[in-house]
Amino acid sequence: MSVLDKLKLDDKVAIVTGAGRGLGRAMSIALAEAGADIVVTARTKTQIEETAGLVRQTGRKALPVSCDVTDSSSVNAMVEATVAEFGRIDILVNNAGGYTAGYNDELADISDETWRIGIDTNLTGAVFCCRAVIPHMTAAAQTGTGRGKIINVTSGFGLRAGRNNFSYTAAKAGLINFTRALSMTYPATIQANLIAPGLFPHGQKALIDWWKGGKFVPMGRLGLDEELGPICVFLASGLSDYMNGQIIVLDGGGLAGGQAPTGFAPVIPMEVA
Ligand SMILES: NC(=O)c1ccc[n+]([C@@H]2O[C@H](COP(=O)([O-])OP(=O)(O)OC[C@H]3O[C@@H](n4cnc5c(N)ncnc54)[C@H](OP(=O)(O)O)[C@@H]3O)[C@@H](O)[C@H]2O)c1
Repeated sequence: MSVLDKLKLDDKVAIVTGAGRGLGRAMSIALAEAGADIVVTARTKTQIEETAGLVRQTGRKALPVSCDVTDSSSVNAMVEATVAEFGRIDILVNNAGGYTAGYNDELADISDETWRIGIDTNLTGAVFCCRAVIPHMTAAAQTGTGRGKIINVTSGFGLRAGRNNFSYTAAKAGLINFTRALSMTYPATIQANLIAPGLFPHGQKALIDWWKGGKFVPMGRLGLDEELGPICVFLASGLSDYMNGQIIVLDGGGLAGGQAPTGFAPVIPMEVA
């Protein structure tokens, strides 16, 4: 089989969480362009319907399912709806997440509630989705009808920290080791890997301004959503069959050299030798 044939995802079924907008939408479209049918999930119905429409424009099937990943019964229902519609799950992209209420609070101001929302949204949701999906992947492997690819979306903030950035960095770092534990537990049937995006503003002016247009990024620019999709396709495809428990960082070289966007710069500016 040629390299390009191995990239194809024809007849595979992928669940993408947080697929209503942003990176989740971009990865849904890329996976569909590679041949997969997509279960498009998030909480906001209008947004998942919109992504589903874009998936269908590629010629693939889309099943929009409302789901709150922090609620295990909602996750279980979403996975049951997937199996009822498609009868299989080959790929799970745990992308739902982001900053939650009070994400930038000083430690003393973090309530039990805001701490839990941050951890639930960025770590526990992925755990619930894996717990619901993995039995289907392992059953398919046992009958020789498939195997599983899990792609968890962490962040540069899973690999470094930020001032007053507690629940998000803790959750995204936790997601990395949770993924490594998956990769140690199911290596015969499932590969679990991570993508760590850098700064992707989705064209939003407020984010572009906050991140100074990417001038702190070694490549001098911010990420484009469509640049993440191919990495997701690679991790979902046969081209990455020997990759397990790894992180692909897509950040224009930020972590390689240590980027310091406004708000995270050292209190005492570093001197250039
Ligand atoms: N953009 C970046 O620069 C960047 C950098 C590093 C890492 N990341 C990570 O990449 C992922 C996507 O980020 P993004 O920038 O594309 O975010 P976004 O534009 O805010 O989209 C987040 C998606 O997740 C969904 N979501 C949030 N909470 C959810 C919940 N409890 N249950 C189900 N769905 C939920 C949202 O839909 P609903 O609100 O409708 O549910 C939405 O579809 C996140 O995990 C984020 O932490 C992003």
